[in-house]
Amino acid sequence: MSQAMLQQASNYAKKALKLDQARRYKEAITNYLNAATVLQKLIGLEQSKDMRNLYYRKAREYLARATELKEIAKKPVSVDSEADKSEDEIEAAIEETIVGEKPNVAWDDVAGLVAAKSALREAIILPMVRPDLFKGARKPWKGIMLFGPPGCGKTLIAKAVATECDATFFNVSAAAIISKWLGESEKLVRELFEAAKEKMPSLVFIDEVDSIATERAAGEHDALRRVKTQLMQAMDGVTSKAEDRIVVLGATNIPWEIDAAFRRRFEKRIYVPLPDLEARQAIFKIHTKGVEHAPEVNFEELAMLSEGYSGADIALICREAIMMPVRELDAAGALTDTSVQVRHVAKGDFTLAMEKIRPSVSSGELLRFDEWFAEFGAD
Ligand SMILES: Nc1ncnc2c1ncn2[C@@H]1O[C@H](COP(=O)(O)OP(=O)(O)O)[C@@H](O)[C@H]1O
Ligand SMILES: [Mg+2]
Repeated sequence: MSQAMLQQASNYAKKALKLDQARRYKEAITNYLNAATVLQKLIGLEQSKDMRNLYYRKAREYLARATELKEIAKKPVSVDSEADKSEDEIEAAIEETIVGEKPNVAWDDVAGLVAAKSALREAIILPMVRPDLFKGARKPWKGIMLFGPPGCGKTLIAKAVATECDATFFNVSAAAIISKWLGESEKLVRELFEAAKEKMPSLVFIDEVDSIATERAAGEHDALRRVKTQLMQAMDGVTSKAEDRIVVLGATNIPWEIDAAFRRRFEKRIYVPLPDLEARQAIFKIHTKGVEHAPEVNFEELAMLSEGYSGADIALICREAIMMPVRELDAAGALTDTSVQVRHVAKGDFTLAMEKIRPSVSSGELLRFDEWFAEFGAD
């Protein structure tokens, strides 16, 4: 699948470049944005860190060029150019980010992460459930950031928090704000926080917060700078009004790229690390649920063998392993014969999958998280 997506991204990018040269800006913008969107999806699927970095850089590049073009395209005096997205569209976008139904992730679906869970319980769930206890000097937290290597449960735990507490849940992808809303993203952020205020208590989850909050080089684009400022103002507004029951929860895989001004606004910074032995065992169980396995499959042993793997890596290993019996059946031409039983998943299926799928987080990267945590962590 990712091969096809890569091809798709490359096609969009090529088209964008051509249109850009031909000064067909509007079409070029659409193609740059499409290329960036596909790349962002790929980042989530890619195993190799180098490739992820490459996609990330490319996506950034396309977004930056699209932003530039958007400003250029606006300049001509043609009055009827649809400069702004209509109010209705913005409202619709905000509606989309509000998760009406609670995400259905139970606390127990998140393996391990004991420290992160208790920090979030204290910071978000208790104040939401018992606001009367959080008065005067006992102030609830307003800005919390989850950080750690990719695929270790940041998004998952945020959903579990939302399931657990009785607040309106706004699930915002910072990357989407930037990529889909370029010129209007500032307005979108402002209205998002207005909506959060109307529907208090609210939990605003900003995933991939680094897309907005990173330190940028000189020459940073205007539209990007404005949305950054807007988000900071919104967060200050939330913090300054003690009676407002809004919590901003951010998540990032690259905390060291978050600039100091934002870092300060996330008063609590919680490390979501690679799963430990016990957590890995639980993740194996969660991701093989309902599929029969041979008695020799020992989850504790699998957990020991999978040191260094992220939760997402283990989920992938499980998916691969439990497919193997089906694949064999298919290879034997017996898939459609319902009288043939599928064999149980064996230990060898898991070890084979582990050979194919290598840990996606490098030890160098982990060291960087530890260093950042030592310097800036605050849980
Ligand atoms: N602690 C965990 N417990 C259970 N599943 C996990 C855990 N960590 C990761 N996973 C699996 O990996 C997937 C990706 O995790 P996610 O929360 O999106 O990672 P990220 O930290 O990058 O936001 C999850 O949907 C889940 O299937
Ligand atoms: Mg995530």
